[in-house]
Amino acid sequence: MDPDPTLLDPAPAEDEPELDRTLRPRRLAEFIGQAAAKEQLQILVGAARRRGEPLEHCMFSGPPGLGKTTLAAILAAEMGVALRISSGPAIEHQGALASILTNLGAHQILFIDEIHRLQRTVEESLYPAMEDFTFDFVTGKGAGAQALRLQLKPFTVVGATTRLGLLSGPLRERFGAALRLEFYAPDELATILERSARLLEVEVEPDAIACLAERSRGTPRIANRLLRRVRDFADVRAGGRVTAAVATQALTLLRVDALGLDAVDRRILRTICEGFGGGPVGLDTVAVSLAEEAQTIEDVHEPFLIQAGLMARTPRGRVATPRAFRHLGLAVPTPEGERPPTLFEP
Ligand SMILES: Nc1ncnc2c1ncn2[C@@H]1O[C@H](COP(=O)(O)OP(=O)(O)OP(=O)(O)O)[C@@H](O)[C@H]1O
Ligand SMILES: [Mg+2]
Repeated sequence: MDPDPTLLDPAPAEDEPELDRTLRPRRLAEFIGQAAAKEQLQILVGAARRRGEPLEHCMFSGPPGLGKTTLAAILAAEMGVALRISSGPAIEHQGALASILTNLGAHQILFIDEIHRLQRTVEESLYPAMEDFTFDFVTGKGAGAQALRLQLKPFTVVGATTRLGLLSGPLRERFGAALRLEFYAPDELATILERSARLLEVEVEPDAIACLAERSRGTPRIANRLLRRVRDFADVRAGGRVTAAVATQALTLLRVDALGLDAVDRRILRTICEGFGGGPVGLDTVAVSLAEEAQTIEDVHEPFLIQAGLMARTPRGRVATPRAFRHLGLAVPTPEGERPPTLFEP
């Protein structure tokens, strides 16, 4: 039988070449940072293994690149079971879910990425599957319709989402553990970078590691990506050795600034600061001005800008902080009333 196309092998995202797979930590002990989540997972895994039960259903949330997919794969490795990978948009209808679930072996882990994008009908048939390991469906139509109940082997759902707020209450409640991944501290990123440099066999001086860690937006995926680009630069221009000076030159070329902001981050801030006098301004207005997707701004850029104290969300819209003005080399506007006229004021 052909493998179900929704059951993909664990594959790196498109922008992460084959190489990156080797950078993913494989066991919990190798996973750096996220101490709180890690401890909770250690207990869940330990308890499930002792009792010979499947792992609790787990939900990971947080910005892209913090390790949600990595942790799902680690859970499967720690439990000694197969990981089957799918995603909210890939499970198009109830029948697709039925086929995935009936093909799961006992205690196997079904990873559902972007779980907030599940269709409603699919989501609703997942509830009894998660709770009682049963799957109800109706075959045929009209008078010939027949309700069937399938018994599933006990399994685990690991869900991941960048948008916890979009998840329905009933779905959230089906998860025994909900873990929020946080941005990594520079020292944790430094440890991740040292490990990656070792695996990639590239010589990186401690000052260069520190420089990269500071500019990785608290995100391991970005840290690894910058490391690879800096390595390329060092290979071509500096005989392969990554010193702090080489790292800084490479990052300047990549337009990554001292806080780790990329060109899009800076355009967002600049739009709010210069186009809207610092805000408040609606996300959609910012998105239109930049010709970017509002969702990309909200998922990929905003969380870090907020965490870095450059931007704030208020009930009236997005606001750039004085730190943002200073970072862009702009004069911080004087308080309300004395504010100099901006582009959009009459
Ligand atoms: N704690 C960590 N230690 C070492 N490397 C890590 C860690 N977390 C993530 N990584 C690295 O960062 C990369 C991105 O992680 P991952 O794919 O798990 O993120 P994600 O949260 O699933 O992102 P997305 O929301 O985009 O799917 C991985 O390939 C892995 O190499
Ligand atoms: Mg992922």
